[in-house]
Amino acid sequence: MKRIITFGTYDLLHVGHIRILERAAKLGDYLIVGVSSDELNIAKKGRAPVYSTADRVEIIQSIRCVDKVFVEHSLEDKGKYIQEAGADILVMGDDWAGKFDEFKDICEVMYLPRTEGISTTHYIETISER
Ligand code: CTP
Repeated sequence: MKRIITFGTYDLLHVGHIRILERAAKLGDYLIVGVSSDELNIAKKGRAPVYSTADRVEIIQSIRCVDKVFVEHSLEDKGKYIQEAGADILVMGDDWAGKFDEFKDICEVMYLPRTEGISTTHYIETISER
């Protein structure tokens, strides 16, 4: 059984999120998703997500192609999360191209193209302008 792992915030779920999860799932048999915690987002992006960690986990868990969800508390522990999940392939959007190559010694690393023209940040800005 081929196990796939991917990571993200998935705040204000949009079609770009769904598409990358569906494409990641098609690369194997079991999709594991690490949803970054509110604290990690504040540290990484300088803002708290609109939806709480618990809500984002519940939303991602409800997606048909997702088999398992866990909370990613620390960027430094990515290697540990990959190994604990027994992942064969790490999938990331190509906004991260090259940034996770260090994990090529423990699994395959693939960067998939993002859906163009949309992001959670874009939607937050659009809503704020209205
Ligand atoms: N993603 C994608 N296409 C988009 C937006 C996101 O394929 N248009 C992918 C990212 O590459 C990542 C996953 O979805 O693998 C989760 O991304 P996340 O950072 O949560 O979404 P963004 O919309 O990029 O959020 P933000 O604007 O806050 O950075």
